Amino acid sequence: MALVTSTEMFKKAYDGGYAVGAFNVNNMEIVQGITEAADELKSPVILQVSKGARAYANHTYLTKLVEAAVIEHPDIPIVLHLDHGDTFELCKDCIDGGFTSVMIDASSKSFEDNIALTKQVVDYAHDKGVVVEAELGTLAGIEDEVVVEAGKEAYTRPEEVEEFVSRTGCDSLAIAIGTSHGAYKFTAAQCTRNADGVLVPPPLRFDVLEECIKRLPGFPIVLHGSSSVPQEFVKMVNTYGGNMPDAVGIPEEQLRQAAKLAVCKINIDSDIRLAMTGNIRKYFAEHPDHFDPRQYLKPARQAVKDMVSHKIKNVLGSDGKA
Ligand code: G3H
Ligand code: 13P
Ligand code: ZN
Repeated sequence: MALVTSTEMFKKAYDGGYAVGAFNVNNMEIVQGITEAADELKSPVILQVSKGARAYANHTYLTKLVEAAVIEHPDIPIVLHLDHGDTFELCKDCIDGGFTSVMIDASSKSFEDNIALTKQVVDYAHDKGVVVEAELGTLAGIEDEVVVEAGKEAYTRPEEVEEFVSRTGCDSLAIAIGTSHGAYKFTAAQCTRNADGVLVPPPLRFDVLEECIKRLPGFPIVLHGSSSVPQEFVKMVNTYGGNMPDAVGIPEEQLRQAAKLAVCKINIDSDIRLAMTGNIRKYFAEHPDHFDPRQYLKPARQAVKDMVSHKIKNVLGSDGKA
């Protein structure tokens, strides 16, 4: 199977009450770990590349790595998506350069400017058979150079979604309902603590999601910032020399619930970073004499695979849906 767009994937996910995982890729081990998990579980998957990933690894290396994954895993549908494209030129580069899906994130602009830029990208993309994700509302956290402080985020206004989708022609819409980017999604002041002293974040705004669904029946919704920051990996990082106090994410049950509704794409990056870093730190601590990168990148790649398998089975519900 060649790379696909997400059109068919999202239709099936919407009707089937599950979501497709969109995982960020930055190097070979990450591409391999994700696609091995998806293949084993017969799950569709979205591999997404940020502007930062392109700056780190270069467009050609990343597209060729994804091409290799498509050859190695011919039985599962794979989308190559641009994550958080911030200009028409960046989206155009990716559309011309083999991506099957792009996100234009003009969510920090005014409603009218967001519409104008999104529509410009949609017109170009659709002409070339590429689909477009757009965003309304602002998430807290860090995306490339944009930093939005916790407490300064803005939930999506459901009364704007119909006009936005019909005027832009976008194919899916990322909304802000309380998720945010990174491993520190909430300040301690925004959370409560459970009996073990672990931070418990405020619940996602399912009322906002449901209102958006009512206004956009059948339309695929996207959730960014959906890492759960599993405490076992925070503990692993901290046990082996790291320092990640009070890292906190979105509880997996809430994401599972969203996946059963109209949320067809769930973005996960930080959990993969955390799993790789925890395992590499552990490896270094346990094998201080090793210096061959393959020795510590092998358990790191396995950690990516295990994390993605866990998400597919327990959060997304996309196993067996390839
Ligand atoms: O939304 C942000 C993603 O986690 C990508 O992060 O911009 O550091 O590659 P990055
Ligand atoms: P996390 O930082 O929660 O993994 O979110 C990733 C993301 O939204 C990429 O676009
Ligand atoms: Zn994001």
